[in-house]
Amino acid sequence: MNGLFSALTVRGLTLPNRIVVSPMCQYVAVDGLANSWHVAHLTQLAVSGAGMLTIESTAVEPAGRITPGDLGLWSDDTEAALGKVIQAIRDNSRIPVALQLAHAGRKASSYEPWHGGQLIPVSEGGWETVAPSAVAQKEGEAAPQALSKASIARIRDAFVAATLRAARLEVDALELHGGHGYLIHQFLSPISNRRNDEYGGSLENRMRFLLEVFDAVRDAWPDERPLGVKLSASDWIEGGLDVTATVAIARALKAHGADWVVSSSGGISPQQKIAPAPGYQVPFAAQVKQQTGLISTAVGLITDPQQADRIIRSGDADLVAVARAMLNDPRWPWRAAAELGARIDVPPQYWRALPQGHADIFENLVFGAR
Ligand SMILES: Cc1cc2nc3c(=O)[nH]c(=O)nc-3n(C[C@H](O)[C@H](O)[C@H](O)COP(=O)(O)O)c2cc1C
Repeated sequence: MNGLFSALTVRGLTLPNRIVVSPMCQYVAVDGLANSWHVAHLTQLAVSGAGMLTIESTAVEPAGRITPGDLGLWSDDTEAALGKVIQAIRDNSRIPVALQLAHAGRKASSYEPWHGGQLIPVSEGGWETVAPSAVAQKEGEAAPQALSKASIARIRDAFVAATLRAARLEVDALELHGGHGYLIHQFLSPISNRRNDEYGGSLENRMRFLLEVFDAVRDAWPDERPLGVKLSASDWIEGGLDVTATVAIARALKAHGADWVVSSSGGISPQQKIAPAPGYQVPFAAQVKQQTGLISTAVGLITDPQQADRIIRSGDADLVAVARAMLNDPRWPWRAAAELGARIDVPPQYWRALPQGHADIFENLVFGAR
C-alpha cells in the first residue's frame, strides 16, 4: 500500500506511516528548560500512532527564542531538561522523534501568542534582536541589529552546538526551521534581506546562510540520521519568495544532502495576503517533489484522513504534517487508521479503546505489530 499508512525509510530511520506530528511551540519553558508540560504534551502525542513526532521549534541560543517561553538547547541544563522529555517518550513509545532547531532573528523577544505576540521592549524584559538587515518586522517596532559576518558565523556555530547536544540525546532526526519569518527565512526573503554583501542580493547569496548552517549541521549530525528543512514556499507578497524560488532553494538543499523539505508559507511580514483553505499549501509540496525529487512534506489545514491519504497516493507529497488537528484530537491517527483500514502501533493499555463504530476493523488493527 502506498497510501498514508505505508512506511518510509529515510537514511537509517523508518517511519511506520506518513503522518508527522508537526512541531508546535508551547511557549511554557522557563530559561529554555523543558518541564513537565513538555513531558505531558509530547508523550500523549507519542502514543498517537503517528509516523514521527517533531518536537517544537527549539532555540539554539537565548536571543533566538521567539518568546521567553521557547525551548532551548544551548547549555548542559537545557540539554538535561530536554533529555528527560525524550526519555519519557522513549519509555512509552517507539515513535521516531525529530527536533526542530531554530533562531527567531527579528521575530525574537516577543510576547506569547495569548499575550498578543508583539515585540517585548528591552525596558519590559525583552532583548535586542538580530536579522540580516536592520529592518523591523512591523512598522513602529524597534529595528533589529544587522548581523556582522562574525555574528553570522557565531549563530551557525550555535546550530552546530545544539546539533551535537541533540545527537547525544539520541534524537532520530533534525529539522531546520527555515520558514515562518524566522532568521533563516529572513535571509532567504528579499523582503527582510537588504544586504549587499555575499549574504544578500541574488537568491544564490540569500541562500548562503541556510546552506552554511545546513552543511555545518550535516557535518556534526550522524550520517544515518535524517536532516530536513521547513521552508515558507511563498511570502504571499509581491516581490517576496515564491514557489519558483523555493524550488531553487530545495534543489540546492538536495545537492547539499537534505532529506526532506516541508512546504509551509508566510510569516515574513504582516503585509502578506493569505487565504487559508483545506490543503492550501499542498501545491507547493507537489512542485517541490515533482521538480526536485526530494522527500516532500505537505502541511497546512490537512484535517481529514481521506484528504491526507489522497495527498500521499496522488504523489503530491511523501509525508503529511498535522498540527492543530493533532492538538484537537491526539488520536487522529487512530481515526485515520480506522477509516482507511490500516494497522497502527498503539500501547496495549489502550487496545480496548477502539475508535467508535469501527469494531468491525478490529482484525485489521494489529496493535503493536510493528
Ligand atoms: C500552537 C502552534 C505552535 C506552532 N509552532 C510551530 C513550531 O514550533 N515550528 C513550526 O515549524 N511550526 C509551528 N507551527 C505551525 C505548524 O507546525 C503548522 O505548520 C501549521 O499550524 C499548519 O498546520 P495545521 O493546519 O495542521 O495546523 C505551530 C502551530 C501551532 C498551532
